[in-house]
Amino acid sequence: MGTQGRKLLEEFGININELITMLQKAYADEFRHAGLVADRIIQLGAQPLLEPKEWMNYTMCGYDRPDNPDVRVLLIQNIKSEQCAIRVYKNLMDFTKDKDPVTYDMALQILEDEIMHEEDLETIQNDIHVMEAKLQR
Ligand SMILES: [Fe+2]
Repeated sequence: MGTQGRKLLEEFGININELITMLQKAYADEFRHAGLVADRIIQLGAQPLLEPKEWMNYTMCGYDRPDNPDVRVLLIQNIKSEQCAIRVYKNLMDFTKDKDPVTYDMALQILEDEIMHEEDLETIQNDIHVMEAKLQR
């Protein structure tokens, strides 16, 4: 991010290092989730989708290209993704409840993380709204 972009975030009261740490955690978490889900697919005797082209046919959350660098737009896109992930894992829990405790537990673990991600991102979004309101006064 360039000097002006960083300055803008600082004006909004965002601690950039804290934001980066939160995003790094979310990024690392998503890899951990992908690993958990891939392991379970293999345990069930199938193969995770190997072809990236196939991902778009199977995704239930779609994909918003991050082509607008405005942090507020990126936050909206990311919050939407977290909310979709919450629904996906809740559906998986409903589907496996009392029938497949291993998948159920995995979905619950991931759901807990996704709920935390949504809350973290909404907190940042609210902070930006508060700072914007202060700057407009
Ligand atoms: Fe997430």
